Amino acid sequence: MPDLYAVIGNPISHSKSPFIHTEFARQTKQAMQYSALFASLGDFVATVKKFREQGGKGMNITVPFKLEAFEQSTQLTERAKQAQAVNTFKFDDDQLLGDNTDGAGLAHDITINLDTSIATKRILLMGAGGAARGVILPLLEYQPAVLAIANRTAKKAQDLKQQFDDHGHIMVGNYADFIDGNFDIIINATSASLNNELPQLPAGLFNDNSLAYDMMYSNEPTRFLTFAKQQGVKHLADGVGMLVEQAAESFFLWRGIRPDTKNTIHLLNQQKQHYL
Ligand code: ATR
Repeated sequence: MPDLYAVIGNPISHSKSPFIHTEFARQTKQAMQYSALFASLGDFVATVKKFREQGGKGMNITVPFKLEAFEQSTQLTERAKQAQAVNTFKFDDDQLLGDNTDGAGLAHDITINLDTSIATKRILLMGAGGAARGVILPLLEYQPAVLAIANRTAKKAQDLKQQFDDHGHIMVGNYADFIDGNFDIIINATSASLNNELPQLPAGLFNDNSLAYDMMYSNEPTRFLTFAKQQGVKHLADGVGMLVEQAAESFFLWRGIRPDTKNTIHLLNQQKQHYL
């Protein structure tokens, strides 16, 4: 019988994770089966327990359960502790190890797939919610010249600066504070794209070689990427690479093997209706 894994979320039917992990398993010849599990709000703990009792070996956790997953973990990796959120469970006897592979997924996508170094660069992170918190430490590990965190509600950005100040050079403010930003990498970690909205961005954020990166994966170009393109940005990326890279990092935690990600990213890009 193959080892069982699943992604749990609400909603979950559009998740690409079963496709990605099935592709990884095929490629690396792992005997595993990966499915999508829907949980009603309030049913997360019971659904995880049932999956475990059925022999589940591990899970990915997506919206809106990453905080509950963090609270349920009996052990946490350092990056999950810092993110205060868990997107990967590994079940071991009576232990429930919680990890967070989102930040590593983003950093791998930028540095390897997009061939853009983070070290010594000026980075702007848009947003100060859970998604932003999860990627701050992995970005700082590459030692950018500065990591600026811009948020509509400046207090939340200030709280993040306080949490991560010992790990690198962090600046915070509202979007308008960075009008002459001249940033090399601008990452949209807000949830604005989900509602087809866009934070009020000043025009001077980008330079001639900027990379505009939207952490959201979408079939349509997002408002942020459309704005960046209008500002003359040539280097645009959505969250498809991050999605595949965070999956690869989870897969490695479970199976001890690093799958090839490039072909899987290519397959997902082929399913889109647009190319950036
Ligand atoms: P997530 O887990 O996706 O990060 P979250 O913790 O609710 O969700 O955080 C959402 C982030 O998107 C916040 O930074 C939020 O800004 P505020 O803290 O000011 O609310 C940001 N956001 C969402 N919609 C936005 C919009 N239309 N314009 C600007 N920022 C937006």
